[in-house]
Amino acid sequence: MLRRLSARKTFLIVGLLTMLAGCQSAPPASQDTLYNDLGERHGIARFVKDMLYIVVEDDRIAETFRGVDIASLHRNLTDQICHLANGPCTYNGRSMTEAHAGLGIDETDFNALVEDLILAMEQNQVPVSAQNRLLNRLARLHDQVVRIPEARPTTH
Ligand code: HEM
Repeated sequence: MLRRLSARKTFLIVGLLTMLAGCQSAPPASQDTLYNDLGERHGIARFVKDMLYIVVEDDRIAETFRGVDIASLHRNLTDQICHLANGPCTYNGRSMTEAHAGLGIDETDFNALVEDLILAMEQNQVPVSAQNRLLNRLARLHDQVVRIPEARPTTH
């Protein structure tokens, strides 16, 4: 059985990170320790793998991942996080908008994935400050991933 963060805690974390993402910038690459603090590429690959194990068992979002090439997703997500952490990786996947177009991802799905990522980082003893710095950088991609529902036409 999966241990879950409470919905309230996730909501607070995601809300706070989204706010912070708007006003914080990453330090210059030369002073950025995030890549090392996440355990370099092999550490990132480990918690991404554990996150994907959690995701495919997570009833809230597992359906979205049905039929997806998980090995390729693992590689691309690892490279993307490595790159966001200013590590020596090149991300070769699609843009976030392109990769998530048509998946209909909403706020609740986004929060569920963040929660699964936090659990995976906790399982891998990623220091909390490094977790928060990574979540902050991921929060900046929120608007490229979450589909804003189109306004319903008004009928008079
Ligand atoms: C900041 C948050 C997120 C990041 C950084 C992210 C990152 C990525 C990356 C790097 C890929 C691979 C793209 C490629 O192979 O070209 C991907 C694909 C995918 N993501 Fe996300 N993702 C995020 C949020 C989500 C959420 C919330 C969901 C659903 C709950 C989701 C579902 C998927 C699925 C199903 C694919 C595979 C699409 C396909 O192969 O056609 N992602 N994502």
